[in-house]
Amino acid sequence: MDYQNIIYSVSDGIGTITINRPKALNALNLATVTELKDVVEKIAVDPAVQVVVITGSGEKSFVAGADIVEMSTKNPTEGRAWGMVGQNVFTEIENLPQPVIAAINGFALGGGCELSCACDIRYASENAKFGQPEVGLGITPGFGGTQRLTRVVGRGYAKELIYTGGMIDAQEALRIGLVNKVVPQSELMDAVMKLAKTITKKAPVAVQLSKAAINRGINCDVVTGIAYEAEVFGLCFSTADQKEGMSAFVEKRKPAFTGK
Ligand code: HXC
Repeated sequence: MDYQNIIYSVSDGIGTITINRPKALNALNLATVTELKDVVEKIAVDPAVQVVVITGSGEKSFVAGADIVEMSTKNPTEGRAWGMVGQNVFTEIENLPQPVIAAINGFALGGGCELSCACDIRYASENAKFGQPEVGLGITPGFGGTQRLTRVVGRGYAKELIYTGGMIDAQEALRIGLVNKVVPQSELMDAVMKLAKTITKKAPVAVQLSKAAINRGINCDVVTGIAYEAEVFGLCFSTADQKEGMSAFVEKRKPAFTGK
């Protein structure tokens, strides 16, 4: 598929997706979400990609939400279908085997905030603004915001953001745990790439199994989650990287992981 609305590149094990509709502040229309689905499904089976970064093009916006113009004429059936199109892609992002980092370079509103919440880790630039403005448009969040935002920041902050439709700045997002780090915009991609590179140096299978265990645990009781952890922990001992990691420690050298 030729991409018109996103840019995708891979370098040193890091796959970077840039949502690229700067004239509409990177709002997500159907064409963009379709391209996002295509690239995410390619990444899911690409062993060359160890970490994924998602960002927005330009200096003003990460993603300013779903495309309001495209959405404005939908009937209930079409509205539900559109919500599910986005939900499905965001769930695919959440379930990617590789860790996904959101580099939030500006507005993360509505579907943009929801996209960031489908990522594993969020770093923001100082000018980033977050919000779920949907109730001001007569709709609810529809790309998972009522569920994932609540799991990220807790029900109190999620409800305040969703009921008021208000925006918060990056420092407030940091305070409530919506983002892990805030840096000047000029340093955002360096900070995100440094984080991504740190992850690429670790044993890839162990990183992916850790992600799978955390994600599984969020959606089930602790007894089931802990049992799953025991399974993935045991599985690690079938990998060459476990032997390499522990031998390297004993031999006082750096491990050379192969992803096997
Ligand atoms: C379509 C959008 C857009 C959006 C911005 N634009 N956001 N187009 N959908 N979500 C377009 C504007 O219409 C404008 O186009 C151009 O981008 C620049 O935006 P401005 O409004 O001129 O910029 P500014 O004055 O700086 O204001 C920035 C802003 C504002 C505060 C982010 O654009 C805004 O409030 N946008 C909408 C944010 C929003 O409500 N998002 C949630 C959407 S609902 P022109 O052609 O005039 O230059 C949602 C639901 C998800 O996401 C679930 C769906 C199932």
